[in-house]
Amino acid sequence: MPPLSPPKKPKAKTFASRLLRWFDQHGRKDLPWQHNINAYRVWLSEIMLQQTQVSTVIPYYQRMTQAYPDVQALADAPLDEVLHHWTGLGYYARARNLHKTAGLVSTELGGIFPDSVEGLEALPGIGRSTAGAICAIAYQRHCAILDGNVKRVLARHSAVAGWPGKTAVAKTLWQIADSYTPAQRSRDYTQAIMDLGATLCTRTKPACTQCPVKADCQAHARQETQLYPGKKAPKTTPVRQTLLLVIRDRQNRVLLQQRPPSGIWGGLWSFPECASEDELTASCTQLGIRIASHQLADTQRHTFSHFHLDYTPVHIDTCASATRIADSSQRWVVPGAHGEIGLPAPILALLQSLDE
Ligand code: ADE
Repeated sequence: MPPLSPPKKPKAKTFASRLLRWFDQHGRKDLPWQHNINAYRVWLSEIMLQQTQVSTVIPYYQRMTQAYPDVQALADAPLDEVLHHWTGLGYYARARNLHKTAGLVSTELGGIFPDSVEGLEALPGIGRSTAGAICAIAYQRHCAILDGNVKRVLARHSAVAGWPGKTAVAKTLWQIADSYTPAQRSRDYTQAIMDLGATLCTRTKPACTQCPVKADCQAHARQETQLYPGKKAPKTTPVRQTLLLVIRDRQNRVLLQQRPPSGIWGGLWSFPECASEDELTASCTQLGIRIASHQLADTQRHTFSHFHLDYTPVHIDTCASATRIADSSQRWVVPGAHGEIGLPAPILALLQSLDE
């Protein structure tokens, strides 16, 4: 007798088949754009749904389709009237592109929307994902989509790290989207994956227990759904460095300079500055100061809206009594008795520390 072969493991159901089975039971099938489906109605809905929730779009979509039942009607309407119908929906460039595309489709394409991603993407306001959605939903073509909800679902399912705004991350997600999209039932699959993202695989608190693809969801297995999709790296704030010259004369006064009227601390009074310790002597000579001794204090940070300023006070004792100053943008002041002059907060703090 030949040896018994080990029992075959049942083939895992594909991502798409599990999702479609879930869609058949739980998916949304009564949205206004799911009735009387044609490319015009699908295109209009997909543009309106960009960056806008379904519940907000529905009444606008109903008014738009009533006013403009086909692409010709939309193309013939004055732009102002279209914008009026769009009022309150936001992102008005969408409405302008909508009107432009309606014009192009009616005059140059015989009123028929292209049935390829490339053809659709060539029209104003239609990106790769919207083109895929129109192709799949209106024409039942085998095309993938990757809108915000789908990015979240796929990034979690395959634990794709990184911010999807990065080309490499988007490329990986598109590859997964392409490989998961089935050749059959692409309309339902497209709606299903959007519905999964909108209803279960939500940004915060996803309902993983009800998810049809949780069995092989990598983020779920690691209990790390909140890490996907990755966030944009915060912009690194540039750092500028400067030395603040705290020059003291024999009467314990310090030299302040009024800053130029524009730029940071414009018109306020501050200490003279120099870029590095190497330039200290030259900077002081320019001010008519001869250094007797100098000492660097601890560097401190002051943060502006667009950069950090790391400033290091340099305490400088001069050789002689203070030189007379003719320039009205410079003055010797006694710390703690500087009078009513405009001072940036860190400079005021520094002056106060000298007074202690
Ligand atoms: N968001 C984008 N397209 C959608 C659609 N067809 N149904 C629901 N939400 C969507």
